[in-house]
Amino acid sequence: NWQLSDFADATVRQIRDAVGDRRVICGLSGGVDSSVVAALLYKAIGPQLTCILIDNGLLRQNEQALVIDEFTNHFKADLHVVDAEDRFLASLAGVVEPQEKRRRIGHDFIECFKKEAESIENAHFLAQGTLYPDVIESGADPDGPAATIKLHHNVGGLPEELGFELIEPLRDLFKDEVRRLGLELGLPEKLVWRHPFPGPGLAVRCLGEVTRDKLVVLRAADAIVIEEIEAAGLYRETSQTFAVLLPVQSVGVMGDARTYDNAIAVRSVNTDDFMTADWSRLPYELLARISTRIINEVKGVNRVCYDISSKPPATIEWE
Ligand code: XMP
Repeated sequence: NWQLSDFADATVRQIRDAVGDRRVICGLSGGVDSSVVAALLYKAIGPQLTCILIDNGLLRQNEQALVIDEFTNHFKADLHVVDAEDRFLASLAGVVEPQEKRRRIGHDFIECFKKEAESIENAHFLAQGTLYPDVIESGADPDGPAATIKLHHNVGGLPEELGFELIEPLRDLFKDEVRRLGLELGLPEKLVWRHPFPGPGLAVRCLGEVTRDKLVVLRAADAIVIEEIEAAGLYRETSQTFAVLLPVQSVGVMGDARTYDNAIAVRSVNTDDFMTADWSRLPYELLARISTRIINEVKGVNRVCYDISSKPPATIEWE
C-alpha cells in the first residue's frame, strides 16, 4: 500500500528529527499497537530504542516468549523484561472486586515501569500506541466531539507520572491501518491479527480472587480455545475469543470417581467497535472439540460452558 509506506517513511524521518541522539522508551504488551509502535521506532532509531515488557504474571500462554522472540531475534531491539509476577499476585491476594483488581494492577504497572525506566540512561521520550479512536474518545482532539466520552486507558497517566516527552506515531491511524502498517514493517501475521487483550489481562478472566493455581488452569484452557479456533480457520472471523475461569465448582464423574471441579466458560464475540457485540455462532463440532480437550487435558476442570450473551446487556469480559 503506497500511502502507508509513505506514511511510514515520513514518520520515520519525523521521529529521527525529533529524537536526535536521545533515547526512547517503549512499553510492549504483546498487543498489536505497542508492537507496531516499537517496530516503527526500531526502524527509525534502532539502538536508541529501549523496549520494556512488564510480565505481570497475567499474560497468556507463551506471550512473554513471543514478544522476546519478535523483538530480540527478528528485530535486534534492546528489550528489558521485568519479571513482576510475584509482586502483582501479592497485590491481588484476597481481592475479588473487579475495579479494585484493575486499580491495583494499574498502580503496580506504573510503579514497575517507572522503576525500570529510571534505570535507563538518557531516556527522554516515551512512545505509546495511541490510535485515532483513542484520541477522539479522550476528547483530546480539538476537532473531535466537544464532550469527552471517557478517559481512555491509553491516554494520560504514565507519561505525566514519569516526566517523559510523548511520542505517539499512530495518532492519525485507525486499527486496520495499524495492522497494515505492522505487516509493512515486517511483523508476523500472527501478531498483527491478534485479538485485543485487556490491560489487566487474565486477572479479569479469573473470576473472584486471582491465584497462581487458578491462572495455571485458565491459561491452559485459554490456549486450547485459541489453538482450536485457529485450527478451524475461524480466528480472524471472530473479534475476540477466550476462556474464563468461573468461581464455581460442580460435580462430575471421571471413570468410577466423583469429581468436584472447576468450570470454564468459553467467550467468543463478533463486533465492529467493541461497544456492542454479538456472540459468535461457532460450529458445534468446534465447540465439542474445545470442550473435550479442555476437560481431558486441563487438570481441575470438569465442565465447559459457551457464553451466548450479547453486549449489551452483557459485556465482553465477565469482570
Ligand atoms: P467490555 O467487557 O467492557 O470490553 O465489553 C470491551 C473491550 O475492552 C476490553 N477491556 C479492557 N481493556 N483495560 C483494557 O485495556 C481494561 O480494563 C478492559 N476491560 C475491558 C475488552 O477486552 C474488550 O475488548
